Amino acid sequence: MQAPRGLEGVIVASTELTKIDGQAGRLVYRGYDVTELAGVVPYEAVAHLLWFRQLPTKEQLARLGNQLSSNRQLPIVVTEFLEQAARVAEPLSLLQTSISILGGLEATKSASTTDASIALTARMPTILATGYRIRSNQKPLEPKAGLGHVANYLYMLTGREPKPENVRALDAYFTLLADHGLGASTFVARVAASTLTDVYSAVVAAISALKGPLHGGAPIFVWEMLQSIGKPENARDWLTDHLAKGDRIMGFGHRVYRTEDPRSKVLKRLAKEIVEPGLFDLAVTVEAEARELLKKQHPERTIDTNVEFYSSLVLHAVGVPPELFTCTFASARSVGWTAHIIEQRQDNRLFRPEAEYKGRLDLKVQEPTINTLT
Ligand code: COA
Repeated sequence: MQAPRGLEGVIVASTELTKIDGQAGRLVYRGYDVTELAGVVPYEAVAHLLWFRQLPTKEQLARLGNQLSSNRQLPIVVTEFLEQAARVAEPLSLLQTSISILGGLEATKSASTTDASIALTARMPTILATGYRIRSNQKPLEPKAGLGHVANYLYMLTGREPKPENVRALDAYFTLLADHGLGASTFVARVAASTLTDVYSAVVAAISALKGPLHGGAPIFVWEMLQSIGKPENARDWLTDHLAKGDRIMGFGHRVYRTEDPRSKVLKRLAKEIVEPGLFDLAVTVEAEARELLKKQHPERTIDTNVEFYSSLVLHAVGVPPELFTCTFASARSVGWTAHIIEQRQDNRLFRPEAEYKGRLDLKVQEPTINTLT
């Protein structure tokens, strides 16, 4: 039996976390349409929903907020690592290595998987902001008590109290990116978790998968594409040239959606509110031209905007530098990864698929050719 390439359409796990309806363009977290959560309830409430199966009461939300807030500080060994490495290593590698160090430090403690998930999620923005500020020759900042998860991230990046509209937009982004079924990185996290490795190691594995441009690495390329196109009137020629060369248009296409990604619609609305009008108009023109050209090139399948297209604009507008776009995606997705790790461990069986062997079976070692093994 031959598996479909890229495991398309293959069910490898059951989950109560997220449902994606690729035909209707709908994304649901534990029964709630994501478009009804984003920007309506805070990201911490969505984290509670994914980790603890229900939206929190006021008291539960306050408790989780406190738990996240009290775990934001980095151990000195991670700060020292960032001081040494931030100027020479790229941000996702810094994030991975910092999480590995955290995992090593936590190995001696006996935190539950859920508590470890909360601690890891709480520290990711601190790792990103500390590394970024060291690299850009600014003094790293202490997390600020009293600010929510997303507001504190913006504060630690910029050193300023963030504007409420920027916090609202980034909070909605975090909710929209919190989980997405078995995307490559979440699948990797579940495979790693199935070996009963620790939560930190499973998240490090997930980040390795997220790095690639076909997954979480896309928004920086969307950003570079918009910079390179520069003006709406250049869009058609630029896109035509790149498609003729066989390039993919970043921020378009999805394995599961056969219509516009529902997250993209919300992000476009947010972008319209906070992005400078010239840049927003450029993106809208590029979107329309790319959709039309891709339709001509691929009449057999719908290749529409995915979550990454307008993410890049929203992240830029709220003050996240392009080098942190994918890292910020990782920070938002930490809740989804860890919720899947928790779910995998609740009913675990080791993942161990097979490959169809297509090589030869009849070769013999030719004695004289390898007689140097002495
Ligand atoms: N630009 C141009 N062509 C695209 C395309 C894009 N963004 N997305 C898919 N295609 C084309 C492929 O070239 C391929 O054409 P072919 O059959 O002539 O070779 C066809 O559509 C199918 O591509 P495939 O890679 O099998 O589809 P998939 O379901 O695996 O695609 C992605 C999913 C995300 C990998 C793909 O759409 C892509 O590479 N998008 C750009 C990267 C991106 O935005 N990633 C973020 C995802 S959230």
